[in-house]
Amino acid sequence: MEGKVKYMIVAAEEMFNFVVRCAQKAGARKSHAESLAELLVAADTRGHFSHGLNRLNMYVRDLQSNTTSSKDDPKVLKETPGTALVDGCNVLGPVVGKFCIDLAIKKAKEIGIGWVCATGSNHFGIAGWYTIRAANEGLLGMAFTNTSPLMVPTRGQRPALGTNPISVAAPANENDSFVLDMATTTVALGKVEINKRKDMDIPEGWGVDGEGKVTTDPKDVLADGGLLPLGGVEETGGYKGYGLALMTEVFCGILAGSNYGPNIRSWKSNSTAANLGQCFVALDPGAFAPGFTDRMSDIMASLRGMTPVEGQPSVMVPGDPERSHEEKCKSLGGIPYHPNQIEYAKILAKKLGIEDVKVKGES
Ligand SMILES: NC(=O)c1ccc[n+]([C@@H]2O[C@H](COP(=O)([O-])OP(=O)(O)OC[C@H]3O[C@@H](n4cnc5c(N)ncnc54)[C@H](O)[C@@H]3O)[C@@H](O)[C@H]2O)c1
Repeated sequence: MEGKVKYMIVAAEEMFNFVVRCAQKAGARKSHAESLAELLVAADTRGHFSHGLNRLNMYVRDLQSNTTSSKDDPKVLKETPGTALVDGCNVLGPVVGKFCIDLAIKKAKEIGIGWVCATGSNHFGIAGWYTIRAANEGLLGMAFTNTSPLMVPTRGQRPALGTNPISVAAPANENDSFVLDMATTTVALGKVEINKRKDMDIPEGWGVDGEGKVTTDPKDVLADGGLLPLGGVEETGGYKGYGLALMTEVFCGILAGSNYGPNIRSWKSNSTAANLGQCFVALDPGAFAPGFTDRMSDIMASLRGMTPVEGQPSVMVPGDPERSHEEKCKSLGGIPYHPNQIEYAKILAKKLGIEDVKVKGES
């Protein structure tokens, strides 16, 4: 029973060091391993466990098979005062993403806006990590990435676009912020996998079978089906999620000249480099009307202060669920992992022949 599970608490610093050990053993340089660790720990601390420790295996696999490299550092191929095209040199996605958002931030501070696209990149984890970096500097941040084909476009039969996440962050007063960070499919594939493990159907609107027909059987989706765009089928507005995923692709693979849409390798394969396209934007609100953060705080306070529908907890703004998970981690003195995840970390440590992760307690 889920309610009886005892969660294992790992200090964020300990998990950071564990990820660094794994990535270095798999072939990453120390600075690259540290960027990956920073990102994965942030994902778990924000409660997006599907994109934290859970994904470490994938990065390790790609490093070990040399489909992700750690040889070079990202480099600027082309530049104007407000834009840049970056070659990610096929290194870990978080290394490319950090390089790009920091360049966008520098440009925004100089001239008001920085729009940076990357080609030759890899899986960059949670999109919000990059936009929060801009918001922490008093800027608006945006981040986008294309991903392996999983989404079946409205009226289509086969997956042709990825789960292509979008994040937009905007600073408010007193360290508050709006942080929208979402996939453009109704759910991530991980949620379908969890239902299959629990032998449970999936709701209509999550996925389709190999012929593009809506299914409630998670096995159909995982065998050779796909995910529906945000909004579900055509009747419930799924074409809007499809449109957002394609917009993301315009900003990523199409602008950057990387792989795009159905040309990206399957999520099940690592026989070639992913060559993903990504996009990072920073914008100085000071270039527009004064009082930006005051208005941000005002609108968020009015939304949070609304009377919720009977029986529901209070209204939130995007970023609030992750913020409250961060607070939970703070009060626990670490990240609460499901025991299966700690078991997974132990297996990985054994496989790599490195020191195991230390659990500091249970909750
Ligand atoms: N790199 C990749 O390939 C990839 C692909 C897909 C998703 N992702 C990442 O996976 C993570 C999870 O994505 P997701 O779509 O499952 O996120 P989600 O559905 O959990 O949350 C989406 C957004 O909705 C907000 N939200 C949630 N409940 C809310 C409520 N009641 N009121 C107001 N706002 C609310 C959250 O703060 C968040 O901004 C994201 O960090 C995303 O970047 C990465």
